[in-house]
Amino acid sequence: MAQLKRIGVLTSGGDAPGMNSAIRAVTRTALSYGVEVFGILGGYSGLVNDKVRPLTARDVSGIESIGGTILYTDRCDEFKTEEGMAKAIETCKKYQLDGIVACGGDGTFRGATDLSNRGIPTIGVPCTIDNDIASSEYSIGYDTAMNTAIEAIDKLRDTCESHGRCNVVEVMGNKAGGIAIQSAIACGAVGCVIVERPFDEEALYEKMKHLRADGKRGFIVVVSEMIPFYASEEFAKKVEESTGIETRFARLAHVVRGGNPSLRDRVTAAKMGSEAVKELLCGKTNLVICERDNKILSLDINLAQTADRIYKGKDDFKAMNKYPEEDKARIRKIVDAKKKFFKDMTVLLADLTC
Ligand code: F6P
Repeated sequence: MAQLKRIGVLTSGGDAPGMNSAIRAVTRTALSYGVEVFGILGGYSGLVNDKVRPLTARDVSGIESIGGTILYTDRCDEFKTEEGMAKAIETCKKYQLDGIVACGGDGTFRGATDLSNRGIPTIGVPCTIDNDIASSEYSIGYDTAMNTAIEAIDKLRDTCESHGRCNVVEVMGNKAGGIAIQSAIACGAVGCVIVERPFDEEALYEKMKHLRADGKRGFIVVVSEMIPFYASEEFAKKVEESTGIETRFARLAHVVRGGNPSLRDRVTAAKMGSEAVKELLCGKTNLVICERDNKILSLDINLAQTADRIYKGKDDFKAMNKYPEEDKARIRKIVDAKKKFFKDMTVLLADLTC
């Protein structure tokens, strides 16, 4: 075990339900191994601006069930500059932090790598409602966000049914369609637009007209946000024009990011937060904690980010050339599984709309 005396914990990027459960797990695990914990306020900006405070077991008491993050969060541009980074390192030295657990999404992991490269051992914990971190099958916050989405969509469905209308509902996801496609299936939507799969608008209109002729009253169409060249509000108007079915539009936006974390998010956060501290105790750095095949594992952050870029089409598979065959096979499997998931979900949704 490494000689670890003090660690810092931060939450960065968009908040996610379950971040507090992760903070609690990091704090309590570290304390139980005799390691002091400091909370860094407002993500990386807390390091840049010296906003750090000690965390005790009592400070994190009862926070596992609360949404948002008690450490606050930010997207800090200054941290990306050499000057900002120097200030952040200074803060780490001032508080004698031997390691950091950084909870967030892919932007947070880039920051974690920067800190690791400058001698501050840092471990990333995936926390984002988008579930768009290729190296992990699951990211903390996703389950709660989907449950919040379906609660809202179920309510829209009630009023659609009463009025004989359609509701086009846009959900968050930052170019990842996981929340959209799963809530569409869960809420009996007639269609779902996600970036990962082609979408046939004409086929949707034909299906809706056919279903209306068959007596169907209410319709839900779910659209994931940020689909390039796609404006969901405009699309709602087109649905009405093309089908003759009165259509309303709703954007759930940040609603799906709030609320008490679900059991899935609390337990995953407990496991991942605890694992991150154990990796630091073993002297590890520059890792991201992942869930694969229901197991909590860790992966080198650089490898995780390469997988992410390949999956998001920002790099091709040649980017894996520098890695051993075993890593290449692992990443190919991860990327293929993510793609297959969206294909399977789209087919399932289509099979259920008749
Ligand atoms: O990454 C989480 C997320 O909620 C995305 O789904 C969304 O696109 C984005 O953050 C919104 O960011 P902001 O909170 O800065 O508006």
